Amino acid sequence: MISLISDAFMSSRSRAFKRDGISRTQRHGPRITHAKIRPLKLISLHFWDTLHTPSEHTYMPDCRIISGNMSDVRTVRKRQQLNNLVAMVTELARPSNTVVDFCSGTGHVGIALAHALPECQVVLIENKEESLLRAQSRGSELGLKNIGFIQANLDYFTGAFHVGVALHACGVATDMVMEHCVQAGAAFVVSPCCYGFIQNAVKFTFPKSKRFQGTLTYKEHMILCRFADQTAVQLPPERRLIGKQCMGLVDLDRSWAAETHGYSVQVMTMEPESCSPKNNMLVGRPPESSGLSRAGAHI
Ligand SMILES: C[S@@+](CC[C@H](N)C(=O)[O-])C[C@H]1O[C@@H](n2cnc3c(N)ncnc32)[C@H](O)[C@@H]1O
Repeated sequence: MISLISDAFMSSRSRAFKRDGISRTQRHGPRITHAKIRPLKLISLHFWDTLHTPSEHTYMPDCRIISGNMSDVRTVRKRQQLNNLVAMVTELARPSNTVVDFCSGTGHVGIALAHALPECQVVLIENKEESLLRAQSRGSELGLKNIGFIQANLDYFTGAFHVGVALHACGVATDMVMEHCVQAGAAFVVSPCCYGFIQNAVKFTFPKSKRFQGTLTYKEHMILCRFADQTAVQLPPERRLIGKQCMGLVDLDRSWAAETHGYSVQVMTMEPESCSPKNNMLVGRPPESSGLSRAGAHI
């Protein structure tokens, strides 16, 4: 079943990428879709120590509640994910920029960013009151002054900002975030998840990019998304590999759609790959001429 679907998909894909009998690879060389990120400017150990005393219990209560090794493993992985996002945002943001953490949950990303970028203003947007209240109390326990909180569906957010971030915004929430960033002319760093929930919404139809539209029907794209969700560690390695490849294609489609707005987008794999089964990260830089770039965002 898997090979049937992937064969069918690969053949329609290679059809589309072949022109005049010459494949895309032969014409341009391979396109890097999974660049390993450069050595990370990691959040210093000191930062985690700062959070540990007195605040780790408030910063990552979920990890604390779970006892034994599981707690440690989850904590380490979450830190690794945060390191990846913070490293990329640090590269993109400039002093006085506004950075928005969309779908912030209990604030892991936004709080780490507010700490790492004291000269930026960080805004957390989350629709669940309980999660945001927890983020808020963590922020104030750490004494962070450069952080703000908005409880809302991210779709209603209309403010100006320079960098948009989202860690594991489920399904089309990632697309909503990217759309907001493109509208604002902001850079973005997003790590998607829940590919299996991707489906047409009021504002989007899939596939998103012209090149994928010429290759895949909506139904084929839905199948691609289902496979992209099969990256859990419990699955056999060959299934996970297909999952990772499909995840890359779904994100490549997303990146090509953003590139039609003048963005330059990289689809990367977070380091180490084991930090999450959903370890892709899309980093988008807006065109030089974008409103916020001109207004001194220096992105
Ligand atoms: C998987 S959690 C990730 C939380 C956080 N980014 C992290 O990695 O720890 C996804 C979060 O997105 C929030 N969310 C989903 N759709 C949203 C929307 N349209 N507007 C605001 N928040 C949303 C959910 O309530 C949930 O807290």
